[in-house]
Amino acid sequence: MSVPPAGGRPAPRAVSLTPYPDGPVVLRGPFRLVDSAGDEVATRRRVVALCRCGRSRLGALCDGTHRSTGFRAPGGRPRHVGEVVRVPLPAEES
Ligand code: FES
Repeated sequence: MSVPPAGGRPAPRAVSLTPYPDGPVVLRGPFRLVDSAGDEVATRRRVVALCRCGRSRLGALCDGTHRSTGFRAPGGRPRHVGEVVRVPLPAEES
């Protein structure tokens, strides 16, 4: 388990999830994104915004739709997670 260094900032190679107020959860770090079937979701980025409003047209990735839907959710502090992050398949999303 990764322990954040003093000062609360994640270690440079740590993977973290940060919920943004009324918006997505931002995933940062050297992660591997996989769907629930275990297939890798292609992304060349080290920072992606994961939808938590359920209205994105990009499946698991935020497309900004939350802004026009009135989605409300609290923000929060970064949470360290493992390098493999599972997201739902499009058919599994609500
Ligand atoms: S959180 Fe941004 S589109 Fe869902």
